Amino acid sequence: MTGTSTRPLLDVRDLVVRYGALTAVDHVSFALEPGETLALDGPSGCGKSSTALAVLQLRRPDAGEVHFEGRELTTLTDRELRPLRPRMQPVFQDPYGSLSPRHRIRDAVAEPLKAQGRWSTADGPAKVAELLDRVGLDPSYGERRPDELSGGQCQRVGIARALASDPRLLVLDEPVSALDPSVRAGVLNLLADLQDDLGLGYLFICHDRDVVRHFADRVVELREGRVSGSWRPRRSAAAPR
Ligand SMILES: Nc1ncnc2c1ncn2[C@@H]1O[C@H](COP(=O)(O)OP(=O)(O)O)[C@@H](O)[C@H]1O
Ligand SMILES: [Mg+2]
Repeated sequence: MTGTSTRPLLDVRDLVVRYGALTAVDHVSFALEPGETLALDGPSGCGKSSTALAVLQLRRPDAGEVHFEGRELTTLTDRELRPLRPRMQPVFQDPYGSLSPRHRIRDAVAEPLKAQGRWSTADGPAKVAELLDRVGLDPSYGERRPDELSGGQCQRVGIARALASDPRLLVLDEPVSALDPSVRAGVLNLLADLQDDLGLGYLFICHDRDVVRHFADRVVELREGRVSGSWRPRRSAAAPR
């Protein structure tokens, strides 16, 4: 292709993660375009979370390459990685587990802004209110603590925290699996809206076939640490996006 060539947002090549003698991720490769949702699907223990952690460099892979926005991350030092980390943000399964029970919601959302030197007393609080609003929470929730929120509200806070870093990629590890079926659709619709508005790429780990079918542009199947297939869901007109 000539002219406007696009490069993938994320290009994972021959990724390997080992825990001692166990090879949890065994030469896994996939690529994700900006604004795309790639689902990783497969049975429990097949290596989905290990892949997510290795992509995020939260656990350094044992072999392989992770190209993110054109940079190869596995060869970077922790110091070199630091300015890139905000651009790839995790959202984990347990919405309460990722929030400190003692801190108010507004502090949880402000934390990444402060850590990245993007906080000022003049406009920080308004930025936090805007982030809460963006995930469908009234800014008054900022005064509450996690145990005063439902699971779905907590997961929205987790998403707001991720957005505070102004990411290009969200790595979502079973983000709705712990939620009541009645609130799942709301969180999935929020994620779809955010993607449309912000052009985020999603690496979306999920093993609910119905969710994957409606939500993903492409699905990569893992089995015992290896890619066993990939497919494109044919979205029906009734799909929620
Ligand atoms: N920290 C760890 N130490 C040792 N083994 C692990 C660790 N994390 C995961 N495993 C093992 O690696 C394999 C893949 O796990 P995981 O990546 O969590 O799979 P999934 O997310 O698909 O359920 C499993 O056999 C699991 O028991
Ligand atoms: Mg997992």
